Amino acid sequence: MCGIVGYIGEREVIPVLIEGLRRLEYRGYDSAGVVFFIDSRLELIKKKGRIFELEEEIFKRLPKGAKAPGLGHTRWATHGEPSEANAHPHTDCTKTLALVHNGIIENYQQLKKELKEKGHEFSSSTDTEVIAHLVEEHLKNKDNIKDAFFSAVSELKGAYAVCLISEKEPDKIFVARNQSPVVIGVGEGENFIASDIPALLPFTRRVMFLNDGEFAIVSREKVEVFDSKGNKIEREITEISWDIASAEKGGYPHFMLKEICEQPDAIKHTLLGRINLDTMEIDFEKEGLLKELFERVKKIFVVACGTSYHAGMVAKYLIEKDVGIPVEVDLASEFRYRSPLIDENTLFIAVSQSGETADTLAGLRLAKNKGAKILSICNVLGSTIARESDVVLYTQAGPEISVASTKAFTTQVIVFILLSLYLRRLFFNEDVSQKIKTLLDAPTKLQSFIERVRPDINEIAKRWYTVKNALYLGRNILYPIALEGALKLKEISYIHAEGYAAGEMKHGPIALIEENVPSVIVAAKETGIIYEKTLSNAEEVKSRRGPVIAVVSEGAEEFKRLADELIEVPLTSYELLPIFYVVPLQLLAYEIAALRGCDIDKPRNLAKSVTVE
Ligand code: AGP
Repeated sequence: MCGIVGYIGEREVIPVLIEGLRRLEYRGYDSAGVVFFIDSRLELIKKKGRIFELEEEIFKRLPKGAKAPGLGHTRWATHGEPSEANAHPHTDCTKTLALVHNGIIENYQQLKKELKEKGHEFSSSTDTEVIAHLVEEHLKNKDNIKDAFFSAVSELKGAYAVCLISEKEPDKIFVARNQSPVVIGVGEGENFIASDIPALLPFTRRVMFLNDGEFAIVSREKVEVFDSKGNKIEREITEISWDIASAEKGGYPHFMLKEICEQPDAIKHTLLGRINLDTMEIDFEKEGLLKELFERVKKIFVVACGTSYHAGMVAKYLIEKDVGIPVEVDLASEFRYRSPLIDENTLFIAVSQSGETADTLAGLRLAKNKGAKILSICNVLGSTIARESDVVLYTQAGPEISVASTKAFTTQVIVFILLSLYLRRLFFNEDVSQKIKTLLDAPTKLQSFIERVRPDINEIAKRWYTVKNALYLGRNILYPIALEGALKLKEISYIHAEGYAAGEMKHGPIALIEENVPSVIVAAKETGIIYEKTLSNAEEVKSRRGPVIAVVSEGAEEFKRLADELIEVPLTSYELLPIFYVVPLQLLAYEIAALRGCDIDKPRNLAKSVTVE
């Protein structure tokens, strides 16, 4: 997820671009850049680091006579590590076209190969730069930017919001949108473009939204919108009433709620480019994960902290059941100080959203020194853990701002599901195409579920937000989900919440049951006998007058009778249970913390990334 801005009009172009980028920094902040005109030539300034570092660079160079149109970009790297060369804007060979992009071009490698064969020279390892050279190539047989731009974009597969300016037609900004947001701000004799509304609000509250597959040509006086076939279409102007602070959160009161609700989109991005839709095969080769990595693997260690550790626990259930390789899941802070049995037949998987967690990094280095192969699952490109791994699978969740991890967790689980299906195919030649189809349908199904269940959870939270203690109980692949639900509640509402294996209740914790200690119990019919066993645990709680908040399969009649609160979850595949059952627990924690007036995005004592022991 990156932030793009564009401006055309009479104002000082650089301050407009920087102001817009500052308001989009939550969308990405590993590098930034701007492009504008001086006289009739394009001038680029790019910098690795935060927006303020780009500002310092601009101040150093003090470009005289900078004028619009101009583009700006703040990057969240998906392809190509954070660096000045990989920062946007990117240009073509002639340096007379410049563009910024947000999204993932799935077919960029093929396009880049074809363009190189035609003599194009590339200066970055990004997918974005391919678009600039593709427009340049099409300009060879088109006499205007619009046709060349439209033709080039029609060759792209994946998600993109692209803005392009050109020395050939300096009075226009060319825009294209597919699956990545872009909004046009309408002014008087000036117009603005941005990935998101906050960047526009200092200048205008009148906006136009582009839909997937649409294009726009933005000049000072007008905005022309075209459909995917190039037909001109009318687009209404919307008046935005949000204040800037809530706009940065997409209208949500907290980043955490925004990130919970954007999990369907995040999962789409995690899947993007990893499934061949024609053959229904999973393809990790582009990311350097080759089947040879698994040839000698006799044991897998999954090592992580906090929420990422819970994702690792899910992986154990998936891989041992369906792949047959022993998986040991360990807290990094324990792993690093014990004597794990590791050799060259061990695969060590580090799971880390930030890629900077000190304990996880220490565990990785210990395993590497003992000869293990290192695979990491990270969300931040170029992070330390990513750089020290043999292979990295990125979750592509976009920046996770809230300290409480939500979309990072679900996208980590998605990566593990992809990995387990990939290994089932690799080792047993199993036909997993139906499982892959279920995976591809998950984002839409999850979106509907979130929309349906949010009001119910809001009501349930009102009845329970004053409790002092809570238990979260689950079994099998939902046991890590019980732990994760408890972690969410405790870290943002400060209620003491304890996750436990439901089968363990009789070995002690059941002594805690009393009327003001609710038990949140997760149980899915898809787990067969496990569901029945969990039902028995719920009855044990009820028989001791303990309240039960049941998060269970749709139509679970048995729980309807005994539960004090019921949250029904749509039926899905076994692999996807963690995704569908963690979301109601994330929402429950959020709503309770909101009612308690907690600082949800920045809970006390916590940091987003624990880079010290
Ligand atoms: C999760 O909500 C917490 N913020 C915390 O447990 C976090 O998951 C843990 O610190 C690991 O962080 P990482 O994924 O960046 O390594």
